[in-house]
Amino acid sequence: MTNPAKNLTVLGIETSCDETAAAVVTGAGEIRANLVLSQLDEHRPYGGVVPEIAARSHLDHIDRLVGQAMEQAGLGFAELDGVAATAGPGLIGGVFVGVMTAKAIALAWNLPFLAVNHLEGHALSARLSDRLDFPYLLLLVSGGHCQLLAVEGVGQYRRFGGTIDDAVGEAFDKTAKLLGLGYPGGPAVEQEAEAGDPAAVALPRPMLGRPGLDFSFSGLKTAVRQAAEKAGILAGGGDAQARADLAASFQAAVGDILAERCAKAIERFQQEYGRPGPLVVAGGVAANRNLRARLETVAAAAGSRLVAPPPALCTDNAAMIAWAGVERLALGLSDPLDFAARPRWPLESLAEKSPAGRD
Ligand code: KG4
Ligand code: ZN
Repeated sequence: MTNPAKNLTVLGIETSCDETAAAVVTGAGEIRANLVLSQLDEHRPYGGVVPEIAARSHLDHIDRLVGQAMEQAGLGFAELDGVAATAGPGLIGGVFVGVMTAKAIALAWNLPFLAVNHLEGHALSARLSDRLDFPYLLLLVSGGHCQLLAVEGVGQYRRFGGTIDDAVGEAFDKTAKLLGLGYPGGPAVEQEAEAGDPAAVALPRPMLGRPGLDFSFSGLKTAVRQAAEKAGILAGGGDAQARADLAASFQAAVGDILAERCAKAIERFQQEYGRPGPLVVAGGVAANRNLRARLETVAAAAGSRLVAPPPALCTDNAAMIAWAGVERLALGLSDPLDFAARPRWPLESLAEKSPAGRD
C-alpha cells in the first residue's frame, strides 16, 4: 500500500454506542495508544444498550480517557496533526459527546477536525492492520449493520447488498437473549456453540440461492425462538446440551448465509474490477472465529483471500476512527467546526459529496 502520509499523527474518539474509546495513530500505521472503556456492566441489567445511560457515561469518562491516550502516546496536543471523532451514525447523545470533545480540542489547539463516519472507520480498518490497496470487497457485520460493499477509495463506497431486516449482530444478540446467555450476545453464542452440534436443529437460511446480494435474518430469529420453545430452553431453562446445540445450529445457519452471499459477491467483484478481492470482514461480528473460518474457505475457493483485522480493531474502537482521520487528512480533507452529528449517515452517501463540502 502506498502510505497515505507517514508523518501524520491523529487523535481519534469513538462514542457512538457503548464503548468510550480514544486512540492515537500515525500515518505509518503505528498505533501509539488504543484505549477502550466498555460500558457493558452499566447496560447488562437492561439486556441491551440504554442510550441515556450511554451518553452520560461517555460524558463522565471521555476527558480522562483522552488524557490517558495522549499520555500513553507520549504526546502533547500541539504535536497532533488532527482530531477525529465519530460523527455518526450511532446513538446521537453519545455521538454528541465525542464530537464536542474533538471540536473543543481542535479549537483550543488550532488543529483540523475530522468528522468520521463510523462505518468508514470499520471499512478502512483493514488498511491500518494489513496495508491493503484499493479496491477491495467488504463484508461489514456489526450490531447495527450488515452490508456488502466495494471499497474503491477513501469516501468511495459502492453498496452491493445489505440486510432487509435485522443486522447479523442483532440476530446474535437476540438469540443470546432467547437462550438466556446474557449480554453481549455475540461472544456468548459463540462460546455456547462450541459444545453444540451445528446439525442438531434444522433452521432456515433466508434468501439463500436468491438473486442479488441482500440478506435477511428475521425469519431465522423467529425459527430460533420456536425451536427454543419446543425444546423448553427459553431464557436459560432446560437442557444445557439442547441449548448448546441450538446456539451451534444458529451460528451454522448464519455461516451458510454469509458464505453464500460472499461467494456471489466475490464473483461480482471479479466481473467489475477484474480481480476476486480481497474480501475484508469488519465490524463486531467479524470477531467470531467460526464465521471467519467459513469466510476464509469461501474466499480461498474463489481464488480470493480473507483479510480480517484483529478482534481489537473489529469491535468498536478509536484506532479505526483515528486511522480514517489520517486517511482523510492525507487527502487534504477536514471538516468545519459546525459539522452536525448525525444519527443516520449511509456510507454510500460519502461518495456523493464533493471533497470540500461533505455536509
Ligand atoms: O461493531 P460493533 O462493536 O458495534 C456496532 O457498531 O454495532 O459490533 C457489536 C456487535 C454486537 O451485536 C455483538 O454481539 C457482535 O458484534 N459480536 C459478535 C461477536 N463479538 C461481537 N457476534 C458474533 N460473534 C462474536 N464473537
Ligand atoms: Zn461498529
